[in-house]
Amino acid sequence: LTTPTLPASLTALAQRCDAQLLQLLGPAQSEFASGAANIDTLHEACAYSLSNGDKRVRPMLVYGAALSCGAELDESLDYAAAAIEMLHSYSLVHDDLPAMDNDDWRRGKPTCHVVYGEAVAILAGDALQSRAFELLSTAPDISDALRLQLVQTLAAAAGLRGMAGGQLIDMEATAQNIALAQLQNLHALKTGALIRAAVAMGAICAGASPTQQQALQRFAEAVGLAFQVQDDILDVAGESAALGKTAGKDQATGKSTYVSLLGLDGARAEARRLADTALAQLDQFGESADALRALANYIVTRIR
Ligand code: IPE
Ligand code: IPE
Ligand code: MG
Ligand code: MG
Ligand code: MG
Repeated sequence: LTTPTLPASLTALAQRCDAQLLQLLGPAQSEFASGAANIDTLHEACAYSLSNGDKRVRPMLVYGAALSCGAELDESLDYAAAAIEMLHSYSLVHDDLPAMDNDDWRRGKPTCHVVYGEAVAILAGDALQSRAFELLSTAPDISDALRLQLVQTLAAAAGLRGMAGGQLIDMEATAQNIALAQLQNLHALKTGALIRAAVAMGAICAGASPTQQQALQRFAEAVGLAFQVQDDILDVAGESAALGKTAGKDQATGKSTYVSLLGLDGARAEARRLADTALAQLDQFGESADALRALANYIVTRIR
């Protein structure tokens, strides 16, 4: 496997998010609550879980969707990008907990609960999630009505009929044979929901037309599924060192994945088919959607 090269335009979007993420988390609390050292530990655990080693795919999708609609990159997008990355990072901190996937390696480092203990990791996830919504509710440069749409979009994607619901189905589908349609539903919820939200949030900030929003949603549906298909492929075909997380876990724990259902070649073909479906939705946008096109290709060729 060789590393796909990300166009500089995309790397710049990931760096834009990186540059602001810790600042948007806010300062450590000790200056407000003197002597409360353990509150600083919680801040540190949040910062630890946001830093380094991650791809920032969802922030890139926020920016890419807005660029497609001809928007300039502004602070509302920065807040939306940071919010979705915080929400996603929270989902990973909890996904790695012993009660869930029980993973001790993430983003090239020991997982949050390995470093800070389970209780702090649970609270760090909670705090990252809350901060995401706080950011959206105070996003600059957009109207109250659009801010409310951002909050609703992320809340729906994170909850019962989104990521959290998908995570439950994932747990229940472990060590069981499920049909492809059920797996698709599982993936569309646990991973697809946040990816669809990222694209929708970019479109909301950009003031996208209904036609643009619909095309972007179809793009996001395909790319969201493709993202988790590639994650399943990398669990089998990838290397822990490149992934920054332990490879081979899905088979070892009996997870239902695209590889377990379709085989490695079948999963690879499905990932490519989904990426092509995603690309076909962008025809109306012209060059402004080049960042999204590059992202769709990157998502199914990435090695981490
Ligand atoms: C991993 O997400 C979890 C899934 C939803 C498949 P990413 O592969 O985006 O992880 P990071 O953010 O780059 O670490
Ligand atoms: C995680 O899926 C999805 C969410 C965190 C919502 P996985 O369990 O497959 O992700 P990895 O492989 O641990 O990154
Ligand atoms: Mg999981
Ligand atoms: Mg996991
Ligand atoms: Mg996985």
